[in-house]
Amino acid sequence: MILFFSGTGNSAFVARKLARKIQDEYMNVFDRIKHEDYGEIHSEKPFVIVCPTYGWQMPHFLEEWMEKVTFTGSKEMYFMLTCGSDIGNAGKYAKEFCARKEMIYRGCAEVVMPENYIAMFPVPNKEESELIVKKAVPVIEKLAYYIEVGRPFPKYKTGVVNWIKSAPVNKVFYGIFVHAKKFTVDDSCIGCGKCERVCPLNNVELENGKPKWGDHCTHCMACICDCPREAIEYGKRSIGKPRYHCP
Ligand SMILES: Cc1cc2nc3c(=O)[nH]c(=O)nc-3n(C[C@H](O)[C@H](O)[C@H](O)COP(=O)(O)O)c2cc1C
Ligand code: SF4
Ligand code: SF4
Repeated sequence: MILFFSGTGNSAFVARKLARKIQDEYMNVFDRIKHEDYGEIHSEKPFVIVCPTYGWQMPHFLEEWMEKVTFTGSKEMYFMLTCGSDIGNAGKYAKEFCARKEMIYRGCAEVVMPENYIAMFPVPNKEESELIVKKAVPVIEKLAYYIEVGRPFPKYKTGVVNWIKSAPVNKVFYGIFVHAKKFTVDDSCIGCGKCERVCPLNNVELENGKPKWGDHCTHCMACICDCPREAIEYGKRSIGKPRYHCP
């Protein structure tokens, strides 16, 4: 079974593509996370976790949710992390997660997709995104093959740079950069509540018809990218940037 989380659609795309290829079912874990549902998840086939890379690891909130879930049936677990450039040493943490959960680690693979982090970096426009997604398709198909034939994903190169990214830089990244203090909303907001609905961590609430952000944001970029009026900005960083959705 493929379990996926996606802030802006990349991982959803990869999960669906993979599901078609390996003829397996997929589950969007968004509702479960949002409603703090830790109920058992059963699959006779290996579990495949598909998610974005945040700070060169799988998202912490996803890992924390998975820690509390009981996985039954297959003991095998694959990880497919979508990313804008690379996943650093993310496999180490996925492997440690499996050890804690008594699951069999079957590897962690990266799928380069368009960058979605509009609060920090430039993001590609629609045409550029389409090209990147096109290039990702054979990568997904190759990884699907490994799952189909029951082989672990090929090992990828790790080294000191990747260690630095996923360990100390990840810590600094979460400690300093990941917060909702810089979100603002302008007068074009129509109070539709979409930003509230799409937040996996219930960190957005409408107050007098306008969003207010709490203090447990994970920077998934769903609220800012999904607003139908583009009424949300993140400090000055997001101004003028196209809102990202997987094409
Ligand atoms: C908070 C945050 C952190 C990110 N960290 C990384 C990273 O460490 N390496 C990388 O290559 N891409 C990084 N990205 C880019 C995303 O992982 C990438 O665009 C991903 O495919 C988005 O998936 P989604 O559309 O399913 O949410 C980051 C994006 C966000 C929002
Ligand atoms: S999604 Fe946009 S328009 Fe809708 S309530 Fe949120 S900020 Fe306002
Ligand atoms: S507040 Fe916005 S960016 Fe932060 S977790 Fe919620 S939807 Fe994602």
